[in-house]
Amino acid sequence: MPQPVSMSTGQGRLVLTKGFTASTPRGSSPRLDRAVERMLYRLEDQTGLELVRQVGHVTGATLTVDVLQPDTTVQGLDEDESYHLDITSNAIQIHAATTTGAMHALETMLQLVQPAGSAYMVPAAVIDDSPRFHWRGLMIDCGRHFEPIDVLKRNLDAMAAVKLNVFHWHLTEDQGFRIESKRFPRLTAEGSDGLFYTQEQARELVQYARDRGIRIVPEFEMPGHSVAWLVAYPELNSGTQPTGIRREFGVSDYVLDPTREATYKFINLFLTEMASIFPDQYVHIGGDEAPAPDWKTNPRIVAFMKSHDLKDNDALQAYFNKRVLAILTKLNRRMVGWDEIFNPALPKDVVIQSWRGEQSLSKGATQGYQGVLSAPYYLDGMQPAVKPYLADPISANTTLTPEQQKLILGGEICMWGEHLDGRTIDSRIWPRSAAIAERFWSPQNVRDVDSMYSRLDAVSVELETLGLRHLTSEDAELRGLAGSEHIAALRTFASAFEPVGFGDRSSEQHTSQRTALTSFVDAVRPDPPIRHQLELAAKRYLAKGTETTSATSQSKDLLERFFSEVNASMPSVNELIKQQPRLQPMQERADQLAVLTGIGSQAIHFLETGTSAPAQWKQDALARIEGAKKPSGLVFFDFLSPLTDLVNATR
Ligand code: ACM
Repeated sequence: MPQPVSMSTGQGRLVLTKGFTASTPRGSSPRLDRAVERMLYRLEDQTGLELVRQVGHVTGATLTVDVLQPDTTVQGLDEDESYHLDITSNAIQIHAATTTGAMHALETMLQLVQPAGSAYMVPAAVIDDSPRFHWRGLMIDCGRHFEPIDVLKRNLDAMAAVKLNVFHWHLTEDQGFRIESKRFPRLTAEGSDGLFYTQEQARELVQYARDRGIRIVPEFEMPGHSVAWLVAYPELNSGTQPTGIRREFGVSDYVLDPTREATYKFINLFLTEMASIFPDQYVHIGGDEAPAPDWKTNPRIVAFMKSHDLKDNDALQAYFNKRVLAILTKLNRRMVGWDEIFNPALPKDVVIQSWRGEQSLSKGATQGYQGVLSAPYYLDGMQPAVKPYLADPISANTTLTPEQQKLILGGEICMWGEHLDGRTIDSRIWPRSAAIAERFWSPQNVRDVDSMYSRLDAVSVELETLGLRHLTSEDAELRGLAGSEHIAALRTFASAFEPVGFGDRSSEQHTSQRTALTSFVDAVRPDPPIRHQLELAAKRYLAKGTETTSATSQSKDLLERFFSEVNASMPSVNELIKQQPRLQPMQERADQLAVLTGIGSQAIHFLETGTSAPAQWKQDALARIEGAKKPSGLVFFDFLSPLTDLVNATR
């Protein structure tokens, strides 16, 4: 995962032994050698073999990595990322135009390692692969909650494993200014609560990403989402000064003043400094959600708009964007911004990142603007992976011409930070992002959902061995909630739930930056594997006749076991809820769960025995299910769809 463009399996397999060696015969790229060395470490982890960790030119090596072009210093958007991977029973060959392509091949090879009796092997195969889209991004919001640098590094490791190649680093927000400026030190001194990245850390992260074939596009939000700038430098405000770093979330009224020359002088000095840290050709200026009431009421700004023939706030923001674009152009950088920067006044070489949807993206493309789609890839909605997986940056029935389609550079996953911190972030991003990465990389017709989920489960575990905490964090949080290492019952109970999305949590809990992120909702994972497993089991079970007897009976067993095991966990969990204040909001869910699992077991009983359910049973059951769909305890049940199917199938 992502599935390659073309793969043909051959005869035999290469058995991995401690004699496995790797060679980079052209010896042109220290970056490639570091990638090969990391691969050897991971192969040792996967196989338990003590390998020769030699890198560089190694004669007679098992694996040869041949890269045609010399390494560049900065990875560009148009980098050739293709690779050819040829595995026979005694050798593996990788050919790629660039080091980035070769790194993708190494990731593919590691995914092919599998057990075979007493050893591990890679199957004989020939793979030719290249990405469908050049821009395959993940944005992490480090403004609303700070994410420690190690958290970002492990997420970059995971990105590389699934061939994502743009890390969009959202560095400034109303709630925090996270990047050190030596020219304007008050930005972090006043605007960050002491939680920020030093320039040295940022440079190191850029290097770390580059070593993994990932570009870093930094985002500095302007003119809105800028409370943290204004707290530090009130001279930038549009008339109203915030009283401090903003703790609540949502759109704010504070904005930079686009009418003062001093604002541009400031931005010029700031972006010039940032350009020395971030070598990527693209810089994101945000630009979203800037209602700016001051622009309508501040007499100085009103007069400026009049004298410059700017008829409304949109026109003033377009003026601002043009001025910032001129600064970026002088720095040899290109501008990226959210939908709101879209304005005919801007030249065609800006990139529009669409959070408003495919239609907004297409509108830009028909007018000649490049775009990146993000709307379907918002992870904070907590939707199952299947939703974003099936959402295509260029849908099959697009009305865009082939030329316009070329303007769609790709897609970007967005991880907004309102409701996450360093402990929970991995489980919100992974493994769902691996499925989305496949959407961005693989051919458009790779859309088999059952296949995706079965491969996602495997990738999820691989990511954990890379250091990701998306699986362990659930247990850790449950231990915290239980105040005990003995969480078997709570764990079983938790398997029935997934978190509500951003909107439901915000409106239920009125969250702010100060909200503790240690509730039950923070423990459970979006789209837990059991959700799709139960769905598939119900589908197979109810299709008996067309499925084999053993598939039918396995499916029935899985469903029965789930209902009975969850039900059996209830007495201990009810005890725990009484003892642990942080679990008390789960009482209603626990009561509902006891009823729902009973309904599941009864439905299977009726179906198995061919007996009719008592009068009213079905209506009552369906009414209970309907009632359980409302949010409570900030979580949703993850099995209501298969349960509904089972109940509906009874007589
Ligand atoms: C956004 O979600 N306001 C980019």
